[in-house]
Amino acid sequence: MMNILLIGSGGREHALAWKIVQSTQCDRLYIAPGNAGTALCGTNVALAATDFAAVREFVLSHSIGLVVVGPEEPLVKGIVDIFRNDAALQHVAIIGPSQYGAQLEGSKAFAKKFMMRHGIPTAAYREFDAASYDAGIAYLQQHSLPIVLKADGLAAGKGVLICNSAEEAIEEFGLMLQQSKFGDAGRKVVVEEFLSGIELSVFALTDGREYVLLPEAKDYKRIGEGDTGLNTGGMGAVSPVPFADAAFMKKVETTIVRPTIEGLAAEKIDYKGFVFFGLIKVGDEPYVIEYNCRMGDPETEVVMPRLKTDMVELFMATAQGKLSSVKVEQDERVACTVMAVSGGYPGDYKKGFAISGLDQPLPAESLVFHAGTAQKDGAVVTSGGRVLCVTSYAMSIPAAVNQSKEVLKKISFDGMYYRKDIGFEF
Ligand code: AMP
Ligand code: GLY
Repeated sequence: MMNILLIGSGGREHALAWKIVQSTQCDRLYIAPGNAGTALCGTNVALAATDFAAVREFVLSHSIGLVVVGPEEPLVKGIVDIFRNDAALQHVAIIGPSQYGAQLEGSKAFAKKFMMRHGIPTAAYREFDAASYDAGIAYLQQHSLPIVLKADGLAAGKGVLICNSAEEAIEEFGLMLQQSKFGDAGRKVVVEEFLSGIELSVFALTDGREYVLLPEAKDYKRIGEGDTGLNTGGMGAVSPVPFADAAFMKKVETTIVRPTIEGLAAEKIDYKGFVFFGLIKVGDEPYVIEYNCRMGDPETEVVMPRLKTDMVELFMATAQGKLSSVKVEQDERVACTVMAVSGGYPGDYKKGFAISGLDQPLPAESLVFHAGTAQKDGAVVTSGGRVLCVTSYAMSIPAAVNQSKEVLKKISFDGMYYRKDIGFEF
């Protein structure tokens, strides 16, 4: 039994917390800073995810044996290195890559070079910075359309632009490199070939040598029905993915997952955590669109419910380099989640609206995961764009989605919106 600290505050963290507290190895669970949903699984603590001095102090004073890092920012800022380099923290298991390894997500140019070194299929690309600005313009002028531009660093999900003309691409390229459109994140720009296909998310946990695969998932990124309108952090997710059959998943494993983990090992990168493969299926072939060094959100809200294996056992095997000895068991059922968001999201929206219907008795096959919620004067109120999601199990995607929609009908807050078409293929 051990005390566990989970860092983060979204739907992903509520789903992780829900799963972690089911473990026989979990004594106390703390979530920093958490939300109104994680407070139902453990104790929320008012620590910022990137206040490493405060995290260190909390870990020592609360005898934490395992730290699970949910979001990318603390990883990209080096939280794992802080633990590795501090004698007082060496006995604490921490899930996540080193700062160097987190560049798989934190630097698109780093990820591209890594894929090139290891022969991992991805879109053709070139990288440019202020010094190679003129060469970049010349490259854009002769590039086939559309052109994909990516700010190198973390840009809160806004750093990818798909440009339909060379003029548009040249303008955006200039804004990034000369006007700091994305700040430091855009000091380097990756120019990439556009791939046309259907996307899915594949998740591995690795100890840096071995890996296990978790259930795969597909998220629905656009705000509007029919997959239209602005990109969001994710409006829903399903698992498993209907078009990812066994033959395709085998290809994913042999051409992408295994070479990635072998690449990490060959380069001696300290990486004991999640690898999220953002993939696209072009014809029958998988390509990497991006790597993330964390779980996906809202994918976690369907992946954790489909995982039968004890999550703390998986985390400890990861931290101790013993993943070859564990087996992952999946629930046979489908899981789907539908996300309810604030009116106006992903643009401006208001917070602080009371949420009603959270005390309804839930059907046995449904779960409510909080994302942007907070407790205020004894009530649960909205505190983010993505507010909460309802995950349901069933034997088919439509049945699971319908079940989630039935539960959502009884939940309400001012301006609440959710897509009715999660689970459809576009
Ligand atoms: P990212 O921030 O890297 O996840 O990119 C955001 C979204 O842009 C992805 O989910 C894809 O839908 C799209 N995208 C990124 N790169 C490409 C590409 N090379 N071809 C087509 N679509 C892309
Ligand atoms: N749902 C996509 C992500 O977490 O980045």
